Amino acid sequence: MTNLVDEVVAIACGPGESLLSALERQGHRVEYQCRQGYCGACRLPLADKSTPALSYLRPPLAWHGEDEVLTCCTHASSPIRLKLT
Ligand code: FES
Repeated sequence: MTNLVDEVVAIACGPGESLLSALERQGHRVEYQCRQGYCGACRLPLADKSTPALSYLRPPLAWHGEDEVLTCCTHASSPIRLKLT
């Protein structure tokens, strides 16, 4: 049977830590390839539209929508909610 509901997780980063590393540290499996912001493999949708706590550790080169984030190059200074697809 297929799960039709996305899992939503609240995640917070440590100092200088990317969302991808924080997700991995908490035991979540997230796809990735480059970990440098250019392939787009780590793109995840935001569960909430208002996410004022996000900043980039390095400028992303891969495209992402307004309601998505590239987890490998983004830092969250306070917990944000992401959809794991
Ligand atoms: S893993 Fe390539 S952009 Fe994040």
